[in-house]
Amino acid sequence: MRTFRSDNNAGLCPEALQAILDANDDFHEVGYGDDSYTQRAVAAFSQIFGTQVSVWFVATGTAANTLAIASLTQPWEQVLCHVHSHYNDDESTAPERIAQCRVTAIHTADTKLVPEDIEKAALNSRGDVHQPQPGVLTISNTTEFGTVYTPDEIKALCEIAHAKGYRVHMDGARFANAVAALGCDPKALTIDAGLDALSFGGTKNGLAFGEAVLFFPQGDGAIFERAVQAFPFHRKSTGHLLRKHRFVSAPFAATLSDGSWLRHAQHANAMAAQLAAGLADLGIQPRFPVQANSVFVTLPPSVDRALRDKGHGYYPFGDPAAKLSRLMCSFNTRPQDVQALLADIAEALALAL
Ligand SMILES: Cc1ncc(COP(=O)(O)O)c(C=O)c1O
Repeated sequence: MRTFRSDNNAGLCPEALQAILDANDDFHEVGYGDDSYTQRAVAAFSQIFGTQVSVWFVATGTAANTLAIASLTQPWEQVLCHVHSHYNDDESTAPERIAQCRVTAIHTADTKLVPEDIEKAALNSRGDVHQPQPGVLTISNTTEFGTVYTPDEIKALCEIAHAKGYRVHMDGARFANAVAALGCDPKALTIDAGLDALSFGGTKNGLAFGEAVLFFPQGDGAIFERAVQAFPFHRKSTGHLLRKHRFVSAPFAATLSDGSWLRHAQHANAMAAQLAAGLADLGIQPRFPVQANSVFVTLPPSVDRALRDKGHGYYPFGDPAAKLSRLMCSFNTRPQDVQALLADIAEALALAL
C-alpha cells in the first residue's frame, strides 16, 4: 500500500532513474565532482536561478543544512531557527558537530517566523565577547507544517536579519513544493529576496538521494566568496564528498532541464489539495493552511485505529497532546490513493456514529 507517511517513502521518479542509467555508460568519468554530469547540473541550476550560482552536491539534507551553515559562520556565532524546524528538532547534534554554532530556537505559535521574531531574538545581544555573535538565520520553505513563505516574507526576514548581522539560509528540502505552490520564479524566493544560501532538496521530489547546496552572491560578494571557499573543505573533512559524484548530480541535471522537478512538486501539492478538500467534506478541517504537499489533521481516535488496522501509514506530529497526524503526499501519490484513504475515513466515521 502507498502510505501518506512521508515523501521519503516513495521510490524514484522515472526521470531520475533514467538519468542514473544514462550516467552508467561505458565511459569512465572523473570522480569527486569533476565530471561532465556535475557540470551539466551546475549549468542547469544557473539557468533556473538566472545567474551563475555556486552549487555543491551532498547526499543528505542534514549534510546540506549543516555544511551550508558551517560555511557561513564562525564557531563563536549562533544560528537562529524556528523551534519546530528540522534543524532544531530532527538533525540530532549535527548542527553542533558540523556547523559548530549555538542553536537558538525561536519559540512561536505560528508556522512561520516574522521580522519581529528576529528583532526579539537579537534584543539582548550586547555584541561583546561573552555572548554568541550573530551568525545565520535559517528558515524552511516549505515549513515543517506545510506552509509556504512568500517572496515578500523572505525579503522582510532577510532585511532584518542582515541588519542585525545575520546571513540567511533556507532549508529547501521541499523547495520545489514551495515554488510550485506559489507559481513564482525560483529567483524571487531566493537571490532576489536576499537569501545567502539554499539547501535545494532532491530526495523528497523523486531522487534516490541528493541535495544541492547553493550560495548566492549578495551585496559586495564577500560572504559568498568566503562560503564558496570554505564549503569544499567542510564537505570533505566531514566525510561528505561523494566519489561517484555523477550519480547524485545526473538526476538533478535531468530533472531540472526537463522541468520534471516542478511537475512532480505540482502533482504532490495537487494531491494534498484533493485530500484536504475530501477531508473537509467529511467534516475534518486541516490544522494549518494546506499550501503544499502535506495535510495536518486531528483524527478521532476510533478513525485513527481503523485506518491503522487497514494498513494506512502516517506520522503523529508534534506535541502528542495535540494528537495531530501528518498526511504527506509525494510525486507518486495517485488520486486513487487519496480516494481510498478518504473512503476508509468515511467508513470509520460512519461506524463511530
Ligand atoms: C525539512 C527537512 N530538512 C532536512 C531534512 C534532512 O534530510 P536527511 O534526513 O536526508 O538528513 C529533512 C528530512 O526529512 C526535512 O524534512
